[in-house]
Amino acid sequence: MVTLADLQVRSLGASSFDSPLATYVKGRTTNEYYVGEDDRILYDDTLALIASRGVTMDELPTFESGGPRQRIFFDPATTKVGVVTCGGLCPGLNDVIRAIVLELHTHYGVRDVVGFQYGYSGLIAANGHDVVKLTPEFVARINERGGTILGSSRGAQDPVAIVDRLVELDIDVLLVIGGDGSMRGAHHIGAEVEARGLSIGIVGVPKTIDNDIPHIGQSFGFSTAFAKAAESIKAARVEVEAAMGGVGIVKVMGRHAGFIACYAALANHDADFVLIPEVDFALDGDNGLLALLAHRVAERGSAVIVLAEGAGQDLIPASDRLDASGNAVLGDIAAYLRDQIGKDFANRSQPLTMRYFNPGYAIRSVPADASDSVYCARLAQTAVHAAMAGRTDMVVGRRRHRFVNVPIPFVTQGSHSVSPDGDLWLSVVESTAQPFDMS
Ligand code: F6P
Repeated sequence: MVTLADLQVRSLGASSFDSPLATYVKGRTTNEYYVGEDDRILYDDTLALIASRGVTMDELPTFESGGPRQRIFFDPATTKVGVVTCGGLCPGLNDVIRAIVLELHTHYGVRDVVGFQYGYSGLIAANGHDVVKLTPEFVARINERGGTILGSSRGAQDPVAIVDRLVELDIDVLLVIGGDGSMRGAHHIGAEVEARGLSIGIVGVPKTIDNDIPHIGQSFGFSTAFAKAAESIKAARVEVEAAMGGVGIVKVMGRHAGFIACYAALANHDADFVLIPEVDFALDGDNGLLALLAHRVAERGSAVIVLAEGAGQDLIPASDRLDASGNAVLGDIAAYLRDQIGKDFANRSQPLTMRYFNPGYAIRSVPADASDSVYCARLAQTAVHAAMAGRTDMVVGRRRHRFVNVPIPFVTQGSHSVSPDGDLWLSVVESTAQPFDMS
């Protein structure tokens, strides 16, 4: 059970400097709202859960509020900050980089900000990647582009060599934009920093196109990505309705979590079946996909299947290959389904026109939409506030519309996934009219 201790964010030490935000622009405060240390956000969101804990208010698990502190740990005049983007792309990476630079430069007066190229690889001196000077001019309008101007890569690197590099470059704060593996890496870097008795802050902005990092609210770029995926579903619907026995399959990203599939399907209610890793389905039998699909096509003339790439992996041979992040390489469930559906319709002598869509990387390489851009900027600002206040080994997130600081170990245990008993899956089943039980 989660306790208050699990949510305590580590600090590099006492804050000895007044934050410059208070006096920005002719003596006016730009931000009258400073976060008090007692201003904490409840972890539980239902009264029954809170009551069942049977503890006092002070003992309830709560998150530290994100936001600017009146007193800060680092002296902005001498602080040097490094930024790195790790792992797969996600809409909004450039928004986050830009907002970090602007917040540091414009509000805190930090002039020394650098970017490391190609993920943690860029933090290994021997790899020879140049360090990029990040200025407001350099980051102007980068938010209009997809991808990351710093480049990215998957895979862990030696934390000892990384800290050597941070020391060599006089970095005081490392801001890591990356997924769960990258956050585990950030934690190891923080541990190495601590073991050496250094005062280098390590603060993360969690990034996951699959929306599968727990406790941080919806991840940035997710909304842009599923909106893009929804376009393919709409296209599939148009195609299959114009064909005899039209069956559309739209495969979207989602290794262990089916959020993209669920949200994209719900965005326009064009899907007849949504298949995700969290919910098993059978092919054969009265409740299996093949019979249900044949029936749906006979009844309505066509059908669209939205398929998360990690769905139905139990139906195909497992691969023993791992990617650079240590994830098992998935089997191609879409190819398998296309084959099985083709054979099944032939056996039934039922007309079939199959259309396959794989929006794949196209959903994560686009620039963030307006809503995600705002979210990215605010997450980035929250990360800068935390870093300047000396917080470390933490990520930023948003819980029930409040920005929070969360210890890295708390978000790297377990993962966020679609609950088969939850209200999101219920909405999907209501929208598609597929049976709850397809096993
Ligand atoms: O981990 C997130 C993710 O988007 C998965 O859904 C997908 O399988 C994977 O990244 C693909 O990324 P890459 O090809 O860059 O490893």
